[in-house]
Amino acid sequence: MKRPILIHPDPRLKKVAAPVADLSDELRKLSRDMLETMYDAPGIGLAAPQIGVMDRLIVLDCAGEEAPPAPLVMFNPEVILSSDDKNTHEEGCLSIPDQFADVTRPAEVRVAWVDANGNPQEKEFDGLWATCVQHEIDHLNGKLFIDYLKPLKRQMITRKMQKLKRELARA
Ligand code: NI
Repeated sequence: MKRPILIHPDPRLKKVAAPVADLSDELRKLSRDMLETMYDAPGIGLAAPQIGVMDRLIVLDCAGEEAPPAPLVMFNPEVILSSDDKNTHEEGCLSIPDQFADVTRPAEVRVAWVDANGNPQEKEFDGLWATCVQHEIDHLNGKLFIDYLKPLKRQMITRKMQKLKRELARA
């Protein structure tokens, strides 16, 4: 089932999400709904707070349209190691539609998480995957990619989003 995606600014996008204690069927269903919502958007990552659920859960698939789907479901994801090397990627966000900006982040990260079967996992990510997983984990800490931008640029984007939300509310 597809879920509506919150649009910035929204207080729920600024909150810290709570760790998941027990993997219930309900949470597994939620992760499937999030993947469906992400693929439909279409996007390459989605965090639970973006659909108003304040749990530490993200989904991502950065394989690209040419490759077979490679969905990842991560409960309680955590960056445990970051490279000194940085990478700059143009980022966007399903909660900030049609806005893009360069963000510099560690080029490689090692991430630990719990998968949908409740098993602990650990893996290194680079390239687009590294950018995406860091962007999604930021969502769990109430941080958006525009928070890395200069205040003026951030305010400009926020005003555009306020206007978009007014238009959507009228429609
Ligand atoms: Ni995002």
